[in-house]
Amino acid sequence: MTDKELLDRAMEAMGRAYAPYSEYRVGAAALTGSGKVYTGCNVENRSYGLTVCAERNAIFAAVGAGETDIDKVAIVADGKRLPLPCGACLQVMDEFGVKQVIVGRPDGKSHSYALADLLPRPFGQDE
Ligand code: THU
Repeated sequence: MTDKELLDRAMEAMGRAYAPYSEYRVGAAALTGSGKVYTGCNVENRSYGLTVCAERNAIFAAVGAGETDIDKVAIVADGKRLPLPCGACLQVMDEFGVKQVIVGRPDGKSHSYALADLLPRPFGQDE
């Protein structure tokens, strides 16, 4: 699975975003160590604080299917700038061993980061 293919899966998931409040649509695709892909989109709620990000929904779908070893997460959002995962999603990525985070936009622009660059000091890491 190439990074581009994983971004395409995230883009498909973005099409299922439920974001009537922010109108910011996000899709994510998590590639597991066993080569499977799990996707998620952001799901908002009229009680705003109940909203769950696309990245966590993708990762939790993988974990719910018994896959706790995740290599990469791709994220696509339809905003003007490339998306970056929020701190909560970065901490969840760290929990399940994510090494690489690929972000992209529907126009094809993308960038790849090491999780360690986005979250250099995760909670719970031994010094
Ligand atoms: N959102 C994500 O899906 N992922 C992130 O990493 C940051 C934010 C969603 C949550 C909410 O539905 C919308 O983007 C605006 O914050």
